[in-house]
Amino acid sequence: MPASVILGAQWGDEGKGKITDLLAETADVVVRYQGGNNAGHTIVVEDERFALSLIPSGVLYPTVTPVIGNGCVIDPKVLLEEMATLRSRGIDPSRVLVSGNAHLIMPYHRKLDAVIERYLGEAMIGTTKRGIGPAYMDKYSRFGIRVQDLFDPKIFRKKLDVALKDKNRQLTKVYNQLPLDGEQIFDEYMVYADQLTEHITDTSLVVWEALERGDNILFEGAQGTLLDIDHGTYPFVTSSNPTAGGAAVGIGIGPNRIDHVIGVVKAYISRVGTGPFPTELHDETGDQLIEIGGEYGVVTGRRRRCGWLDAVALRYAVRVNGLTEIALTKLDVLSHFDSIKIATAYTSLGERYTEFPRQQRVLYNCVPHYEEHEGWNVDISEASTYEDLPEQAKRYVDRIEELAGVPIRTVSVGPARAATLERKPT
Ligand code: IMP
Repeated sequence: MPASVILGAQWGDEGKGKITDLLAETADVVVRYQGGNNAGHTIVVEDERFALSLIPSGVLYPTVTPVIGNGCVIDPKVLLEEMATLRSRGIDPSRVLVSGNAHLIMPYHRKLDAVIERYLGEAMIGTTKRGIGPAYMDKYSRFGIRVQDLFDPKIFRKKLDVALKDKNRQLTKVYNQLPLDGEQIFDEYMVYADQLTEHITDTSLVVWEALERGDNILFEGAQGTLLDIDHGTYPFVTSSNPTAGGAAVGIGIGPNRIDHVIGVVKAYISRVGTGPFPTELHDETGDQLIEIGGEYGVVTGRRRRCGWLDAVALRYAVRVNGLTEIALTKLDVLSHFDSIKIATAYTSLGERYTEFPRQQRVLYNCVPHYEEHEGWNVDISEASTYEDLPEQAKRYVDRIEELAGVPIRTVSVGPARAATLERKPT
């Protein structure tokens, strides 16, 4: 492994949690490098379900140091709640390390996230309303309050008052909301400071030292490639960089320290929230994918939109991330279909596209060109080796590998750890 990035190659919800968890078994350090509690990772260990949103999946292994890097935005209330939940289930969260340079999600970020979405009406992004976008807005406008500020009450209060003056004006004058009380926020965050103090450190240094020791390190991306603020389907994206380059910046390491980039690809595709989605199915087949695939958000419970695998978007993800291998997930969901499709090109506004279009108008008008594959119609969730899979399923996997141009080394056929098959690339 030495240092590998693992990330979603689609719009998130590819089943990264499970693959990360498996790789974490041999990792020494697992690092989150962007996003916050907008992510949702479900991990199933011996019939127990763990839904994590901020703490890296690796926390379930006592030998792993879980790290939350500077590129993340942190809601301290959620972080502490997640730690408490883990503790109540017998997992020690004391090893969790958090960058002092990560930015804090404040109560006004959550409030603004909700009211801005309402204000946008039909143009809404469909955010998770966790305050992610407003927190990153403050980071880049240099109004942000960082985790390290919690430990200097005077500075914290000063920064809070400056921010709150502006936020309360927005909340009351633009969005017709009640103002927030600075005193109350201050008191609340000082309690968090006390509880978090032992977890805060220079995580860039921690990771660098681990790299120097030759430790196995996993950099865990949240959301997915097509939700990247720079490379995704802007403006219907998240406010950070889930793509592989984001790992270097969001941790504070050189990009040359990353050895592998593993893209997690669902055997079909889904997205939550609004925005263009060329292979979306609005018919019974789409509904079937949602129901059989259990495509409901871990964080918000929202019904995901589903469609056939999009190889144009996949090749794009290979390119912008420099994927070195693919882990294919939820292949078992497709066992219920007589025929399965893959989009290999689009037509939009009279032109044919084999590369993912960067122009929003083009993307909105894409009509996919599909190739059709024979289904296998048998339950594959009990398969114990890749070779056990029906020929049709193997042909489907081979074809995805051929279209992506990157080896598929892992195929997942169910939520449990055991339902993961190792594949020798062709
Ligand atoms: P935000 O990250 O809450 O600002 O939401 C921005 C967009 O990213 C919305 O379309 C969300 O539905 C989407 N999004 C955020 N986190 C996730 C995730 O973990 N999986 C899938 N979509 C996500």
